[in-house]
This record gives sequence, C-alpha cells and structure tokens, in this order.
Amino acid sequence: MIEIQNVRKSFGSLEVLKGIDLTVQKGEVLTVIGGSGSGKSTLLTCINGLEPIDSGRILLDGTEVHAKGTDLNKLRRKVGIVFQQWNAFPHLTVLENVMLAPRKVLGLPKAEAEAIAVKQLTHVGLGDKLKVYPSRLSGGQQQRMAIARALAMSPDYMLFDEVTSALDPQLVGEVLDTLRLLAQEGMTMICVTHEMKFAREVSDRVAFFHKGVMAEIAPPAELFGAPRTPELQTFLSATH
Ligand SMILES: Nc1ncnc2c1ncn2[C@@H]1O[C@H](COP(=O)(O)OP(=O)(O)OP(=O)(O)O)[C@@H](O)[C@H]1O
Ligand SMILES: [Mg+2]
Repeated sequence: MIEIQNVRKSFGSLEVLKGIDLTVQKGEVLTVIGGSGSGKSTLLTCINGLEPIDSGRILLDGTEVHAKGTDLNKLRRKVGIVFQQWNAFPHLTVLENVMLAPRKVLGLPKAEAEAIAVKQLTHVGLGDKLKVYPSRLSGGQQQRMAIARALAMSPDYMLFDEVTSALDPQLVGEVLDTLRLLAQEGMTMICVTHEMKFAREVSDRVAFFHKGVMAEIAPPAELFGAPRTPELQTFLSATH
C-alpha cells in the first residue's frame, strides 16, 4: 500500500504539491490527470524517493520513504518507474538491456537474469526482439522494453509517467495494451496519463491534479460523468 499524508513540496518559492493526501491500495490502478505543471510528475518522483519532500509522509508498505534511516535503494526496488522516454544502452541488445539491473542491482547470476529478462520481454510482446539493438525498435517497442526492464526487478508497484506521450498515435495502443495487461494481473499502478479513454477503462480511481492540489478523486464513471469542480470541467472540455 502507498500512503501519502499531507505531502508538501516546493521548488524554490513555487509550491508544487500543496498538502496531498492519497492512499493507493494493493492491486489498485490509480490514474492521475491534470494540466501541465500541476505536480503529477513531482508526485511520482517523491513516491520513489527521487525527490525529497518538505513536509508530510509517504509510506510504502509502512516504511517511510523520506525517513532518515530508510534504505532508499532497497525501497526503490519495490517501485518500478517508467517515463516518457528511456534511453537504453545502444551498444547492448534488448535482452542485455533488460538483464542489466537484475545482474548489477540484484546481483543475480547471468542465467537467472537472462531467464527473467526473456520472461518479461515475452510478457510485453517482445519475445522476438531479444537479440535486436534498441535503435531498431519502434517507439512503442522501446516503451515496452522500458516496461519489461522495470518488471525484471519484480516490483510491487509500478509508476508510469505519460509513457505514451512521445509516441506516434498508431503506437499508443500497443503500449496501453501492455498497461492494461499489468492492471488485469493485479499490479498496483499509478499512471499519469493524457489518455482519457484509457483512464476511464482501466482505473479503479482517477485523481485530478490542479496547481498542486488533488482537486478531485473518484472512480472513473463518477469523475468523468459528474465532475464537481469548475477546474475539472474546464480540463475535460479542453481534452475532449
Ligand atoms: N527539478 C525542478 N526544479 C524546479 N522546478 C521544477 C522541477 N521539477 C518540476 N518543477 C516545476 O514544478 C511544477 C510541477 O512540475 P511537474 O513536472 O510535477 O508537473 P506535471 O503535472 O508533471 O506537468 P506535465 O503535464 O507538463 O508533465 C512545474 O511548474 C515545474 O516547472
Ligand atoms: Mg509531468
């Protein structure tokens, strides 16, 4: 479970997260929507400890992410994060790229790391691209490789930050299908997305961020069907 309690975060004089309270249960799929600069990416980077917070607490399975004694490296292994773009190592094959973290971070023997990488690459539909170099993959395939790479660490949580935003429209679907599959398998996920149809179909709940505040959170039928705040109404009418 991810517990976010009254989290505040500023960059200089700009307060980006203004007291966020949010709990994500095991197996839950939460999507986060909201305008540019509303704090969505910052929330994700705070959850896995990439960014410090100013006040409040974030707990992962009861462990406080930003507490002094917390082993951040250990904690981060629980949390896979996939961004808009991930620069794979160009001189390594797809398989070698995905094997890297299990080898280096988990210290697994080569054969074991390879078996895990093959399994996860097959899972995301790249079983026939193992020996290919990343530059030969399409954008959608590269994103699925990035997802496989995160999954190879056996995370308990997956955070996705606009993983389809940099893709040509015809490649978006294959990546969203991979996210759907993970959701169906019960992965606990937070997905920042601009894909409203995806959010509507896949989410257990949708959170709407506006200027550092979580202005609304509700199951998708409710949030999209009956937005309560003028800010969400405006946002939705602009994105449709
Ligand atoms: N490292 C940083 N240093 C200074 N300001 C930052 C930093 N990261 C983010 N910000 C600022 O914090 C605010 C929130 O940024 P954030 O990236 O969380 O927004 P977002 O909701 O993800 O937006 P987008 O939809 O454009 O990705 C923005 O005004 C941004 O300029
Ligand atoms: Mg962002």
